[in-house]
Amino acid sequence: MSDTDSLHEKILRLKEEKNAIILAHNYQRDEVQDIADHTGDSLELSRIASNIDCDIIVFCGVNFMAESASILSPEKMVLLPEVKACCPMADMVTVSGDRGIKNYFPGYEYTGGYRYPADFTLKDIKKLHPGVPVVTYVNTTADVKAESDICCTSANAVKIVESLDTDRVICIPDKNLSAWIAKNTEKEIIAWDGFCHVHDRVSAADADKARAEHPNAVLLAHPECRMEVLEKSDHVTSTSGMLRYAKESDATEFIVGTETGLMYGLKKENPDKVFYPLRKDMVCPNMKKTSLQSVLHALESETYKIKVAEEIRVPAKRALDRMLDVT
Ligand code: 13P
Ligand code: SF4
Repeated sequence: MSDTDSLHEKILRLKEEKNAIILAHNYQRDEVQDIADHTGDSLELSRIASNIDCDIIVFCGVNFMAESASILSPEKMVLLPEVKACCPMADMVTVSGDRGIKNYFPGYEYTGGYRYPADFTLKDIKKLHPGVPVVTYVNTTADVKAESDICCTSANAVKIVESLDTDRVICIPDKNLSAWIAKNTEKEIIAWDGFCHVHDRVSAADADKARAEHPNAVLLAHPECRMEVLEKSDHVTSTSGMLRYAKESDATEFIVGTETGLMYGLKKENPDKVFYPLRKDMVCPNMKKTSLQSVLHALESETYKIKVAEEIRVPAKRALDRMLDVT
């Protein structure tokens, strides 16, 4: 029996014993996706976390995702196998200038390297635009969600903004997703200045190069890419939106403008089609931290427990529930 087989067996046995469910984001390592009960995009995983029947959720993704699961299902134990798996973009917006995240992740160290804008906070932007609702991407910390009117994901952002009865909307934290929303709505979008370092590194020149190399391929792009890339794409959608599109499309070649972890699901579901990464270095190091070993360790030691203080959880849940009600 190989090491991977025995790891698999141990994980499956413990999962059964502890009535645990493994959720994995579409960017996780291939072997982690394979051991998961459900894979999906942020919206799908939030929905599953809010409805699933189990005692423990092992969330293979980054911290804001596990936090959302705990906000939606506080009665369950939510485990994040790698405590340092964070999303640098989520850390680009804070409520009051203090890193609220430290309250929820004992031992958490800020590793993203970004603090942008340096001293401007969510409270500051709300003060600048009184009465304007705040639409918050799920890639944010719980305390930011708690200060927001409604959440969105890349799968539903335009629909969420359209659901609001105001002409102006504040969108945080991703400037690229905000630009995409602005292009698809009549409403005025007041955007924060954050970005995903994995998607924002791609340029129009990269899109041109990939097109030249694969002239028959359909170019798919995630809305976290810059507008100059989105404008050159055939279809802009979330990670699971890309999985659906590739399956339903008659095309046989695709250029994939998102984190390369999605290539695994795309190839698995479409063995007769060909997929090329838009750039080979579209790799999120935080998404890759989780391994089969860390999943096993999480189940054995019941670490790292993600729990959000009630005074934050309740208003954060309101913003997430409002989103889930719209879509
Ligand atoms: P999706 O919701 O499209 O899966 O995206 C999540 C994410 O982190 C993108 O970088
Ligand atoms: Fe955050 Fe980007 Fe990684 Fe997604 S890919 S978790 S947005 S850093």
